[in-house]
Amino acid sequence: MALMSDPAPWTAAVDLLRREFGTQPDFVAGAPGRVNLIGEHTDYNDGLVLPAAIDRHVFIAARRNGSPRVRLAAAAFEGRVEFPCDDPGRPVLPAWARYPQGVAVKLLARGISVHGLDAAIAGDLPIGAGLSSSAALEVASALVLEAAGDHALPARDRALVCHAAEAEFVGVPSGIMDQFASALCRRGHALFLDCRSLETHHIPLGASLAIAVCDTGTARSLAGSAYAQRRRECTDAVLALQKTGMKIASLRDVTADDLPRVERLPEPLYRRVRHVVTENARVVETATLLESGQPAGLAEVLAASHRSLRDDYEVSSRELDAMVDAALASPGCIAARMTGAGFGGAVVALVQRAAADAFLAATAEGFQKRTGRAGRLFMTEAAEGAQLLEQRDWGMGTGN
Ligand code: GLA
Repeated sequence: MALMSDPAPWTAAVDLLRREFGTQPDFVAGAPGRVNLIGEHTDYNDGLVLPAAIDRHVFIAARRNGSPRVRLAAAAFEGRVEFPCDDPGRPVLPAWARYPQGVAVKLLARGISVHGLDAAIAGDLPIGAGLSSSAALEVASALVLEAAGDHALPARDRALVCHAAEAEFVGVPSGIMDQFASALCRRGHALFLDCRSLETHHIPLGASLAIAVCDTGTARSLAGSAYAQRRRECTDAVLALQKTGMKIASLRDVTADDLPRVERLPEPLYRRVRHVVTENARVVETATLLESGQPAGLAEVLAASHRSLRDDYEVSSRELDAMVDAALASPGCIAARMTGAGFGGAVVALVQRAAADAFLAATAEGFQKRTGRAGRLFMTEAAEGAQLLEQRDWGMGTGN
């Protein structure tokens, strides 16, 4: 995490804890957002993904309060909320608080007791830009709730608890990528994750490659119908293919050789399947190019991913297409594509580090010209996954 920034990015959470609850933290947790380099809409099809954590975080400063209640305040939202430790599941809280609440419910379900806590949430991760602020909030919540009970789950189990909270308690039907990225990524690396076996592999990005996040400033809720509809189409395609005698459990089992047979599916199912099958192959290709130090080859692979998401999966938007065009026309751009669920949100670009400033300026201008909108662009580093901060870091400059 960026120890040198001034003020440190977690200061807002520590200050909020002092203002709202009049106390200093026992611990501070930080969980990063993510960009997905490639492997889009593959996680819920048991497929492959390649996200990287970004250097923007949700921070939670928390202190044991000796009471049977968890009390929460968040910098981005009005009001304070609380829930009882022994029955955290009553769904009466405002939307933002359901993420920590859901994590408490799922920790309890694993036999991990929930202790009374005062907690303040703040951070520098944009909300609603498709950078997984909800997964980061869940993972940071898990860290402080575990710490309050002197517990520390393995990162993989923490990711699964957080995913269960989002899917089963909050009710957003997302896949597992975001929670795994926030919990498991390593600094300077992308995370190759097989969403079926849950095997992971950290792939170094190399010093010359930088990541740009180019947010279009247009957002559409993930809980919205389009994401759920894509998931249903994938399930329908599996059922239809099983009826033809194909021995598959999910779209992960469909190969490129099967595609001529799949072509008989009604529209749009064939195109949805083709996206998933070709996207899984592109994840492997991207990992190979990165590992063998051939970034030039990424241009075509990421371009093919964007085309497939636009034409076959139909989750891009006018603004996302414009941002990709603007990025590709800018100095230092190696590759670019939409990232995350789509329907708005952000584009990820891989950029030559030395050209980062020129890239950001030209892409912002190009996007403005194409759409009349101001995008929000920033460079980021592939960051370390979620962690409890050392007291010597958060104690600095906060009156401790
Ligand atoms: C969202 C979901 C992820 C994944 C992506 C699309 O970010 O939370 O699980 O499905 O969309 O790749």
